[in-house]
Amino acid sequence: MNVLLTGGAGYIGSHVAGALRSAGHNPVAYDNLVKGHRESVLGGDLIVADVADGQALRTAMKDYHIESVIHLAAFSEAGESVEKPGKYFSNNTIIGLTLLEAMRDSNVRSMVFSSTAAVYGTPKRVPICESDRLDPINPYGASKLCVEFMLAGYAAAHEMGFVSLRYFNVAGADPDGLIGEDHRPETHLIPLVLQVASGRRDDIKIFGEDYDTPDGTCIRDYIHVCDLADAHVLALADIEPGALKIYNLGNGEGYSVKQVIEACRKATGRDIPTQPADRRPGDPPRLVASSDKAVNQLGWKPKHIDLTGIVVDAWRWHQSHPEGYGQG
Ligand code: UFG
Repeated sequence: MNVLLTGGAGYIGSHVAGALRSAGHNPVAYDNLVKGHRESVLGGDLIVADVADGQALRTAMKDYHIESVIHLAAFSEAGESVEKPGKYFSNNTIIGLTLLEAMRDSNVRSMVFSSTAAVYGTPKRVPICESDRLDPINPYGASKLCVEFMLAGYAAAHEMGFVSLRYFNVAGADPDGLIGEDHRPETHLIPLVLQVASGRRDDIKIFGEDYDTPDGTCIRDYIHVCDLADAHVLALADIEPGALKIYNLGNGEGYSVKQVIEACRKATGRDIPTQPADRRPGDPPRLVASSDKAVNQLGWKPKHIDLTGIVVDAWRWHQSHPEGYGQG
């Protein structure tokens, strides 16, 4: 299939592109390079354009005979979204609508959507199932949930088909070491801790040690980016006209911030000083997925479930690319 991959030059997009190519698909990356990196597109075409540009989308869909879309382009920092809600609703929600309209005009009738665990807000129980209460506590989660509502409407009205994948905390890097995580600025826990391990940062701030969790720090479910990428290939094959299907993607195992730091010490053998800090606004105390539905219905088989193994892959990338993709 010819697949338009919005955000195709990003961290997750570059790994999804690799999984698509391995499965015999033809990904066409579509990225404005605001967050993405040209160097992460290892094969196939890259269209440098914005998803807000409906005409550029229509041209791309026509020129590349696009049959399906995987929509990853988004801003994704929950903490920032609390400060700048407009940035999130315009870039994540409104461009979602632009994309759906361009797809409808171009008769491209299927899409896999990159959603998030942040749609659940502060869950009443963990592990979280897809049918659990949706109650985002930050604009990032709300901006993605709005798109899920749009997908439901377009599926019902226009016989389009969608799979929405609710990611938990994505980490690691392709074991080949060619692509990895390079956010600017970096805000995610594991890459920041690895910057401390490599001496590029003095210490890691722990955002809150007074949560109602066993060691007082937030618990998250870390999923290897290659396992996540594989799920997109399965999701493409799972799309049915007129339906919106939703799957959580996580490991089913929760780790606290302190446990993650300990795993990084183990994986790197380095000293990692920490510093207490205030809670970060918009952070739920505990997010752990039930991915049973993806395992049972998509046939998804995550291969990299050990947290230290995930960190080892991230560390390999970090050491071979201390400046990420460079100055670009
Ligand atoms: N954290 C620290 N210090 C830091 C950075 C993070 O203590 O310097 C903590 C955070 O407070 C949080 C945990 O580490 O408790 C993980 O934080 P990340 O920023 O790595 O990830 P988030 O949980 O905020 O968000 C990620 C994605 C979102 C997605 C969410 C779903 O960025 O897109 O996972 O779980 F919605």
